[in-house]
Amino acid sequence: MSTRKGTGYYKVPSLKGVWYRGHYLYDGSVASLEEMFDPDRIKETRVSGGWSPPGVPTRAIKGHEFGLTLTPAEREQLIAFLRTL
Ligand code: HEM
Repeated sequence: MSTRKGTGYYKVPSLKGVWYRGHYLYDGSVASLEEMFDPDRIKETRVSGGWSPPGVPTRAIKGHEFGLTLTPAEREQLIAFLRTL
């Protein structure tokens, strides 16, 4: 439970209770789990459901590409599972 602030490590958020949190990612740029695993999220034409820098109407929400290549059915199952945590 000790802090790693300033050590260069990235302390990731727990997925426990992820269903009632949001917005997601460090800057809150993703508004929902559906948006988190939407492959269009990493396209430059994306209108972010969450936080965006002022004056930036569309942008790719980059990073965390795990889970973006799932089929629609797999994505639905993953999100259903995450909502049980
Ligand atoms: C398909 C497997 C994965 C799922 C379902 C998943 C799910 C998630 C979710 C829902 C978040 C957002 C949590 C929040 O903001 O409260 C998250 C954040 C994060 N995950 Fe994963 N993850 C997966 C794989 C991975 C892997 C393999 C890594 C590392 C190699 C990783 C590293 C991270 C990091 C560093 C964050 C924080 C990113 C940020 O705050 O900007 N994840 N993950």
